Amino acid sequence: MRNFVKRLWSGFPFFLKEISYLISKFTPFFIARPRSVYISFYDLVCDGLCIMCSAGIAKKKGIKRNASTEPISGEKFAQLIKQLKKLSGKGLLVSFTGGEPLLYKPLFEILELCRKEKIKFSFTTNGYLLNDCNIKKIIDSKLFNIGISIESLNPEINEKMRPVPNGTKKTLKGIDKLIIEREKSKSDLSINLKCVITQLNYSTIPDLVKKYGKIKGVFITPQPYNEFDVPEVAEKLWVKDTGKFREVINELILLKEQGYSINADLDTLKGFITYFESGLDEHGVYRRDLLKQSMKDKLIYNDCTIGYSTIFIYSDNGDLTYWLCPYMHSIGQFSEGKMLEEIWFSKKAMMVREKTRKCLRFCNLSCTRKQPLLDKILIYLRIK
Ligand SMILES: C[S@@+](CC[C@H](N)C(=O)[O-])C[C@H]1O[C@@H](n2cnc3c(N)ncnc32)[C@H](O)[C@@H]1O
Ligand code: SF4
Ligand code: SF4
Repeated sequence: MRNFVKRLWSGFPFFLKEISYLISKFTPFFIARPRSVYISFYDLVCDGLCIMCSAGIAKKKGIKRNASTEPISGEKFAQLIKQLKKLSGKGLLVSFTGGEPLLYKPLFEILELCRKEKIKFSFTTNGYLLNDCNIKKIIDSKLFNIGISIESLNPEINEKMRPVPNGTKKTLKGIDKLIIEREKSKSDLSINLKCVITQLNYSTIPDLVKKYGKIKGVFITPQPYNEFDVPEVAEKLWVKDTGKFREVINELILLKEQGYSINADLDTLKGFITYFESGLDEHGVYRRDLLKQSMKDKLIYNDCTIGYSTIFIYSDNGDLTYWLCPYMHSIGQFSEGKMLEEIWFSKKAMMVREKTRKCLRFCNLSCTRKQPLLDKILIYLRIK
């Protein structure tokens, strides 16, 4: 009971954010402040070679991205965190990806800063470096959430997508150790197993859910493969047998009803079928132009209010750029010397917000998934 009250109390700032979000959405007064921040440092080194990821593809081709710069310094990252705290106050969730965060030297200093600032921090890793030492540091850091990417329990399938020899064994060992240490130390850390849905692995996702979906503190987030400009990759990864895929989605829905923790509501899960169908012609062949057309055809405004609650931050040649939606214009950058608060409330940001509400894109960003307030509260209480 005491724990439950503690959880409710720690969720209160998020509830207040939700209220200011609703006021901003339904009245002319914009008072919302960000509650979710997604930080990606594309120039972070990575020890993966994933075939669906632009970092893996670039590495395979021998392209060194942003080769002229080092990743953002720990000092700059710390300044950014302080500005975020000033803008957002309590109830802030910062998610960090790379590259590979466990290869970023200042990571644990940043975790310590977030702990002091009472910011809920989360990062996503491929799990290869989840050794005893890092697991201890992670638990001690009071990290809020860790995302661990795993595409299948079957090494043959996982390593087709994540071609690192023995990578599956390393990641699974890391997950299992982390679950044990979490329990031993009575940590609140939530563990998010992330899985990209593709033609290669979709049929094995229920196995992942069955193995981990009822373990305390663990949940599974399936995320459809996001197609970008590499046609031969898209051809291989796009889910084509959508009839069989539908059966798998139905199985996931059933598992969810049986209490397995899957981080997607029923509409979202069903939406994954529509998403993959929208890229196929009448012969079931993947056609990028069809996907684009179906985005245009959708002709219903998303009324997307992502820019009322979220900021995306990307590294760019030693600078940091700020975005309300990754597919629209940037709203500013660190080197401008302005405080983030000024940028968040700027005219430019308000113009982007207007545009997002009229967005027609068939968007599958997991952070745009609409969730009723009650669902959000229930998930928060369950995963914390
Ligand atoms: C870019 S990675 C960075 C963090 C870390 N290196 C990892 O592999 O988890 C962040 C997440 O994006 C996912 N991802 C990569 N390429 C993707 C794609 N084309 N579509 C959807 N998700 C993708 C990864 O599987 C991972 O869960
Ligand atoms: S490990 Fe992560 S960042 Fe590296 S190639 Fe794979 S998905 Fe991309
Ligand atoms: S692409 Fe459209 S729907 Fe997706 S996050 Fe951006 S504005 Fe929202």
